[in-house]
Amino acid sequence: MSGIKIAVLLSGGGTNLQSLIDAIELGKIPGQISVIISNKKEAFGLKRGEKHGIETMVLDKNTYGCKEKRDKVLVETLLEKKIDLIVLAGYLAILSSNVIEKYKNRIINIHPSLIPSFCGDGYYGEKVHQAVLQRGVKVTGATVHFVNEITDGGPIILQETVAVAIDDDVKTLQEKVLEIEHKILPLAVKLFAEDRLEVVENRVKIH
Ligand code: GRF
Repeated sequence: MSGIKIAVLLSGGGTNLQSLIDAIELGKIPGQISVIISNKKEAFGLKRGEKHGIETMVLDKNTYGCKEKRDKVLVETLLEKKIDLIVLAGYLAILSSNVIEKYKNRIINIHPSLIPSFCGDGYYGEKVHQAVLQRGVKVTGATVHFVNEITDGGPIILQETVAVAIDDDVKTLQEKVLEIEHKILPLAVKLFAEDRLEVVENRVKIH
């Protein structure tokens, strides 16, 4: 195996992780997932990783204590494994500024709306789709972006839209949006791995 070394951070089911595993196994991304790190020991994403022989790690309060200690272990792990790219795939925790600075333009997040709509603090999981339905917008979508100090505020790499139907509920909307997440996240990681992303101020140029 060759190419870039990826760390995937997650807290839940890990369908986005699965889309990356599948793309890598199909040879679409020049890279490998070196470690999957979860802040929740019950996250199903860990099982998905184990099934594919990927190293997993639970970085939670019970085992590692306070946030400072956990961040220290996180950075040590990333450095030890010579990680090139961190992918936040449903990671419901805030990365410390130390990690964000060290990995500037090397952390990617997937968000289930068209940023800058329905994003920022408090907009996660089903809450995003609830807000979309409440506002009555006709179009929503997903965004892959680099991570900076502002929640969901970093340079946007890719976006794709989904039409909101009048009979959509949170569940159907989430399914539709997940379908495009599983398309644009592997694509963004592929572009990164091929060194085709350039950040120019707050914009991303794709070569
Ligand atoms: C996705 O909707 C993603 O956009 C958001 O968290 C969810 C994770 O889903 N950040 P999964 O665990 O990858 O299935």
